[in-house]
This record gives sequence, C-alpha cells and structure tokens, in this order.
Amino acid sequence: IHRREFVVTWTMVASVPLFRGLDAAGIAEIMRYLRAQSIPRGAMIVRKGDPAHSMYFIAEGEVEVELARENVTLGEGQFFGEIAVLRKTLRSADVRATAATKLLILDAYDLQTLTKRNPEIGDAIREVAQSRSGLAPVE
Ligand code: CMP
Repeated sequence: IHRREFVVTWTMVASVPLFRGLDAAGIAEIMRYLRAQSIPRGAMIVRKGDPAHSMYFIAEGEVEVELARENVTLGEGQFFGEIAVLRKTLRSADVRATAATKLLILDAYDLQTLTKRNPEIGDAIREVAQSRSGLAPVE
C-alpha cells in the first residue's frame, strides 16, 4: 500500500473543529507535532488488536470504523484512534479508508504534551472516547 507523507498546512489544522479554539501560536505549536499522510481508498489504517502509538485527525476524505453490529463513517474534521492511546490498550476496531484520505497523525507522547498545555482539547477527546466506547471515563 502506497502511503505518501506530505506537508502539514495551516488550513488543514484549522479544518479540525477541535483545534478551532486555538490562537495562532497554538496552531503553530500543534503543527510541529503533527505528521501528515495520504491514504489510498480501501487501505486499512488501524487494525483491531494492534498496539497503539498514535491517533489520527481526518483532514480530507472518509474512513469507516468496522464494529461488530454496524460500521460508523467518520469524515473531515473528525478523529479516531484515541481510545487505545488514552486507555493504553490495544486497538478496539479496524479502521479503513473508504475514500482517498489525508490524515494528520499525532503520536501518543505529543498528545500528552498537547493536552497538558490545552486541557480543553484533552477533555474533548476524552469525552468522545468515552461516548464511543461506552465504558468508564478515561483517566
Ligand atoms: P482505537 O481503539 O484506538 O482504534 C479503533 C478506533 O475506532 C477507536 O480508537 C475509535 O477512534 C474508533 N471507534 C471505536 N468505536 C467507535 C464508535 N462506536 N464510533 C466511532 N468510532 C469508534
């Protein structure tokens, strides 16, 4: 599978609602943490049961989370891969690109730094993780 790295742009970061509250300095900071990758349609991004080192923001395109009962589609501005990173567990589901997709990748270590400096971002990610997993709150 051919995955291409590309440059993270200001516009891409600003397209993620979670980052919209950041000022210019905050966006500049987060741009240093993010890597970008383009994923061809059909490619598997996250595999259930794999160890987790990063989470992903969708800058463009669409992915499908393959759950036991039904699949959930996530699109531009949404994120995934946060559950295993926050809980330090294995991936809870397969996630596949259903269109040519551009992802912003945030490593677990950088997520910690980011949420220390921007607690409201950490809270928002934890809330989504909790509602998706239907489990106890994430520490
Ligand atoms: P993670 O467990 O790291 O890897 C699989 C991802 O699929 C998971 O994080 C979530 O981001 C996502 N996911 C799992 N369950 C749901 C759900 N019910 N709705 C949307 N996304 C989900």
